Amino acid sequence: MRILSGIQPSGRLHLGNYLGAIKQHIELQDTGEAFYFIADLHALTTLRDKDLLRQYSNDVALDYLALGLNPEKSSFYRQSDIPEVPELTWLLSTITPMGLLERCHSFKDKIAKGISPDHGLFAYPVLMAADILIVDADIVPVGKDQKQHIEVTRDIAQRFNYVFGEVLKIPDEQIIEETGIIPGTDGQKMSKSYGNTIEIFLEGKPLKDKVMSIVTDCAPIEEPKDPDKNNVYNLLKFFISKEEDEEWRKKFKSGGLKYSDVKKRLIQVLEETFKEAREKRKELEKHPDYVEDVLNEGAKKARQIAIKTLSRAREAVGLKRRDTLRSP
Ligand code: ADP
Ligand code: TRP
Repeated sequence: MRILSGIQPSGRLHLGNYLGAIKQHIELQDTGEAFYFIADLHALTTLRDKDLLRQYSNDVALDYLALGLNPEKSSFYRQSDIPEVPELTWLLSTITPMGLLERCHSFKDKIAKGISPDHGLFAYPVLMAADILIVDADIVPVGKDQKQHIEVTRDIAQRFNYVFGEVLKIPDEQIIEETGIIPGTDGQKMSKSYGNTIEIFLEGKPLKDKVMSIVTDCAPIEEPKDPDKNNVYNLLKFFISKEEDEEWRKKFKSGGLKYSDVKKRLIQVLEETFKEAREKRKELEKHPDYVEDVLNEGAKKARQIAIKTLSRAREAVGLKRRDTLRSP
């Protein structure tokens, strides 16, 4: 089974990204042949600062490797190192109906927010389809917000196959449900765009300050409370044992609980959970050549498949096959 997913380097990764995506990506690498990539071409639709793009791409690489991405098991690469992806994007574009893209929520949401759309934003799902189809992926593990993009990918692939013959493999989505929507420090969905994130690798005082800033109500201490409405508990619960979870639920319901105690426990738990990853990340930071080698090796493996898929697609539409690496 071939698994593929991508993550945009559009900011520092946070607990929402970890619980909603990265954790599952790491676990899945034991169940099949995994391909994970840094979607830097996608990030260009919103990020227009070359230094930041480089920095965030490097951060994503370090974060994934520190959190357990194993380059022996998974191919890990930069999207922009696979030139077959933009080429397939064009072939797919020629058979993608405008209406299909106009119906995409992510596009409509951005328009509704008053963002003036450019072609990159509009064509975003076609590039995503090419990411997936180029490696003949069987499943694509993504958060709920990406469900429609996978459906669009299937539509595009089916249409391409209908017009040109059976060339592309139709992938299945795998929606990561269990974690649902992780709340940020203000209780809304944790997201880079809302400025309410807790970054995975925060530690010491900055971590403390972030956790202490989580919004809670100002009900008196003695009053019994509903844990499920508490933004601190709603993060803490993902990092503690079942027994401890039950204890906290009891404490909330019986009254007399200080929110600062829950916050202190969350700080402690985050320090502990990511302790090993934090040390590994610091080590990796000292070895940029190693990280670069991993990404290059990953791109090589992905390209071996990508070249074949693109060649099939080129031939099907009436272009020359190209089964080998392009000469410079
Ligand atoms: P952001 O909203 O911070 O820009 P992205 O859209 O780049 O995050 O998210 C990448 C992936 O991380 C998403 O596909 C989703 O699966 C997951 N994710 C992000 N935020 C959350 C959250 N608050 N709760 C659960 N999953 C999330
Ligand atoms: N659009 C995805 C996101 O924002 C990232 C992404 C790009 C992706 N290409 C992909 C995810 C292909 C899965 C498969 O989260």
